[in-house]
Amino acid sequence: MKTDTPQPVYLKDYRPTDFVLETVALTFELGETETTVTSQLRFHRRPGAAADAPLHLDGDALTLVELAVDGEPVASERYQQSGPGLVISGLPAEAAFTLSVTTRINPTANTQLLGLYRTNGIYSTQCEAEGFRRITFFPDRPDVLAVYTVTIIGCKKTEPLLLSNGNLIEKKDLGDGRHMAVWNDPHPKPSYLFALVAGDLAVIEDHFVTASGRNVKLEIYVEHGKEGRAGYAMDSLKRSMRWDEERFGREYDLDIFMIVAVSDFNMGAMENKGLNVFNDRLILADPQTATDDDYERIEAVVAHEYFHNWTGNRITCRDWFQLSLKEGLTVYREHEFSADQRSRPVIRINEVRFLRSNQFPEDGGPLAHPVRPTQYLEIDNFYTTTVYEKGCEVSRMIATLIGRDGFRKGMDLYFERHDGGAVTIEDYLKCFEDATGRDLTQFSLWYHQAGTPVITATSQYDPSAKTLSLTLGQSIPPTPGQTDKKPMHIPIRTGLIGANGEEIEPVSVSGGERTGDVLHLTRASQTFVFEGIASKPAVSLNRDFSAPVRVSYDQPVAERALIARSETDPVARWDAANGLALQALCQMSRALQAEEAAEADETVARVLLAFAADETLEPDYRALALTLPSETDVARELGENVDPEAVHEARQILAAAIAKAGGTLFARLADEMRDTGAFSPDAASAGRRALRNIALSYQARISDDPEPLLAAYKQANSMTALIGALRILVSGFADTPAASEALADFRTRFAGEPLVLDKWFSAQAAIAGEEALERVKGLMRDAAFNSGNPNRVRALIGAFAASNPTGFNRADGLAYDFYADFLLDMDKRNPNLTARLMTSMRSFETLEPIRRARARSAIERIAEADGLSRNLRDIVNRMLKN
Ligand code: PHE
Ligand code: ZN
Repeated sequence: MKTDTPQPVYLKDYRPTDFVLETVALTFELGETETTVTSQLRFHRRPGAAADAPLHLDGDALTLVELAVDGEPVASERYQQSGPGLVISGLPAEAAFTLSVTTRINPTANTQLLGLYRTNGIYSTQCEAEGFRRITFFPDRPDVLAVYTVTIIGCKKTEPLLLSNGNLIEKKDLGDGRHMAVWNDPHPKPSYLFALVAGDLAVIEDHFVTASGRNVKLEIYVEHGKEGRAGYAMDSLKRSMRWDEERFGREYDLDIFMIVAVSDFNMGAMENKGLNVFNDRLILADPQTATDDDYERIEAVVAHEYFHNWTGNRITCRDWFQLSLKEGLTVYREHEFSADQRSRPVIRINEVRFLRSNQFPEDGGPLAHPVRPTQYLEIDNFYTTTVYEKGCEVSRMIATLIGRDGFRKGMDLYFERHDGGAVTIEDYLKCFEDATGRDLTQFSLWYHQAGTPVITATSQYDPSAKTLSLTLGQSIPPTPGQTDKKPMHIPIRTGLIGANGEEIEPVSVSGGERTGDVLHLTRASQTFVFEGIASKPAVSLNRDFSAPVRVSYDQPVAERALIARSETDPVARWDAANGLALQALCQMSRALQAEEAAEADETVARVLLAFAADETLEPDYRALALTLPSETDVARELGENVDPEAVHEARQILAAAIAKAGGTLFARLADEMRDTGAFSPDAASAGRRALRNIALSYQARISDDPEPLLAAYKQANSMTALIGALRILVSGFADTPAASEALADFRTRFAGEPLVLDKWFSAQAAIAGEEALERVKGLMRDAAFNSGNPNRVRALIGAFAASNPTGFNRADGLAYDFYADFLLDMDKRNPNLTARLMTSMRSFETLEPIRRARARSAIERIAEADGLSRNLRDIVNRMLKN
């Protein structure tokens, strides 16, 4: 290992600061390459702290200009720049004092996009998790809350807009071409929620009247000329505000709520108090430039960040180990919102698909960690799908255990008890226990044990006793640092389906607790006996995906098909169909890998097509049923010795079989689901477009004529239809004149629209096969590509690594080498993003031996390089551990 070996931070070492911060006053004199920050921090020593304990402040990449206590410069022997931070001693034992610190920073040189940075003429900040220390020396941790007053001085011409958190209390012209704005945020907050934005942007304005009748100003800031694309985000914001009042009784608490869309941003968006900062791709939308998925994401993320105002901001995390306290819970609130705005089953199915294809591989690989980790080297690397999505599932399970009303009661108590606090997962769980009397001790293991539980099921029907015995076992695979696991409390919603598709309600159930259709699995193995069952039923396990587990149940295909036909729970219905397809794909992949013939089982086609043809079902749901598990899903399910070529081939064969069997149906759907009237982004219209796109994609699978697709491309009247046709064209007919014509047309049509060209990059990055690498390298030379912009990098390089299994895993390993070179170079500029991209290789050990070895050597080459960032080093070291 190289040079600096950073020390892990441990949960068990948590202790409060020795000094209590009362207020913060910050002054920014903005300058492109030289910004001066003066901070005045009012502190007092915490009662009980040692009278001579020094004050520790965090800092990173700061130039210290001045340091004073109560106006007196601090003598050099009283402070030390220890590593990146600052330690000051000889501070008053009892009296409060004001520390003033002046630092100088360079926003233009800040390519990490953490702290204060300036791109495209806009100053903006990103402080979560530890970016504030790149602005000034500060106790940069979430349990230090204070009221902030922020003065911003900027040039009137280049920064007509000067924004920070809270309320604007003063604005004045300084007469020298500069002006000044003063903001005050009355709500004490941790530094990670601080934000500043300055520059020249356009605004769209609206307002919202809260349940108690207060008027809140709403402002969304975007690049000039993009005002027309902020309407959907504004509408989503208002619906979110209303929903949080109705569903959780939570009102907004300032007179103004602002969102700023910026084009250079590492993540999706950030919930800074009263001043959310968004990646512009999650704000800007109109029918010509955004797909239905974009609209849906915008609605969800606007809601997510807004909901943080209560879950995250008003009540925050005591330390970063508690991250899921705000993120998992807020994702849960966001999902519930989306389910109320759109189709609940469709939303749920998409969550399940996301969890399985992203979180399951994380939880089953070298980067697995508990929802609440106990140690970290770099907190940025813990903004993971485990913390977010598995954390969401844990809150969802609490709601399943105590019911919707119980959950609301627990949340009410949480807000009442902890408003203004920085708390822990234990504090959160205690509220549900106290509000409902349910003991969550065993349940809390979900926060502490990593790994996806495997539920094994066996069932036995006894016709003479008229009983069904269902034995459920649970085991959790070992994960890094955790070898033996305890049984957890797992709510498995279970239905029994009779031969005619009717639901069978047992007379009684013994063997464990059952509430409604929830079986409470609490032991390593448990047999539930259902009494009064007249004939052998099909068992439908984990309805609505009530627990984030894998189910291993050797169930006859006919029973699965019955569930797919007649379950009343639409999620279980979909899952039965999807499970059949997945099973078939796995078998076919193995056969192909062994150089045997692989034929598509016709049951799968029949089951999926029955969904597609059923007009009583919503189009969106039908489209989902037709969506085959991805190649990555199949790889995950195979779990070892994966040959991406075989998986690809298997999927091609099955899709072609479905296309053939559904020929007339697909032709009819492609026609019927065509958009006619004016565009509307609502879920029902989006569902029709989704169903049409998938019908077109099946049609293309058994056609050798790209012309109808080129026609569909030319006739498209929405971005969903346009990019849909383009994707099918380039994936099915790569390098044909028709595909090239459409690609060239798209490139010209959207020449000035980087966000739209991202779709163009991604579509090409995903084209299967060995040529992908050269194609990607070629696209990197396109004038629209910019390796400094996270969206471009994700759209091209990220998409290549994450969504092109055959291209990225080409057998000669050249794509791994390319990726390693790219990441090593990017690590020098943006470690946070680099480390995230690195994680796409986390499942490399499941590959067949030749690819596995080549992938490993590329990762090892990264690990051995000099000067790696802490972020990247942490990820590669964990990936190489075994
Ligand atoms: N807290 C942000 C969210 O709402 C995510 C984020 C984390 C953004 C870190 C930037 C940096 O999920
Ligand atoms: Zn969040």
